[in-house]
Amino acid sequence: MKLCPREFKAMQSGWRKWYIRKIELATFKKFGLRIEDRDILEVGCGSGYAASLLTAEAPRSYTGLDIMPEQLALALERQLPRARFVQGSADDLSAFPDGSFDAVLDFCILHHVEGWRTFFDECRRVLKDGGCIYIADLSRRCIHLVDALLRWDHAEEALFSFEELEREAKRRGFCTVKKAIDLGLEGYFCFRKE
Ligand SMILES: C[S@@+](CC[C@H](N)C(=O)[O-])C[C@H]1O[C@@H](n2cnc3c(N)ncnc32)[C@H](O)[C@@H]1O
Repeated sequence: MKLCPREFKAMQSGWRKWYIRKIELATFKKFGLRIEDRDILEVGCGSGYAASLLTAEAPRSYTGLDIMPEQLALALERQLPRARFVQGSADDLSAFPDGSFDAVLDFCILHHVEGWRTFFDECRRVLKDGGCIYIADLSRRCIHLVDALLRWDHAEEALFSFEELEREAKRRGFCTVKKAIDLGLEGYFCFRKE
């Protein structure tokens, strides 16, 4: 995967932490996310900031998946209770048995995943009946803007429009429970396994 060093730095910033806490996680909760006593999978957990928020709310289990070992090493340093961290890609959840999770969470990483369509198949398998995917992510249009302004360099194959995202989720066995799209740039979705 490609992650430019400036994006890597931005991921660790106070601004990004505020945004995860106050906007993304808050929106997931507004959409119906329950954490206490639930089995939670976060894809692209990075250095574990969202993990620290989620594990503070007493999930039955929390699993953070990330493709970069250096990110997972930072997450492990947090020594969070009830947390395990696994190296792997969001489009290959073969490390997890069928029906393992109540919710799969994406805090802005799906636009890095070239196999984002397969991600929905994998989620369908690892989610329990009635389980949900919560997505906070950026559209192709947004990433093009970011790349033009900041000279970050995202892989085109991983990008999607929100129409494409919703269409694939539906095609792969999910229904849209809630969604909110800001200016066509950032979108929030709750998709439930049907
Ligand atoms: C933009 S950061 C977001 C990290 C964190 N979720 C946040 O919001 O700060 C992208 C993260 O996604 C991870 N990532 C990229 N491609 C991935 C993939 N295919 N599967 C799992 N994680 C991936 C990167 O290693 C990195 O930690």
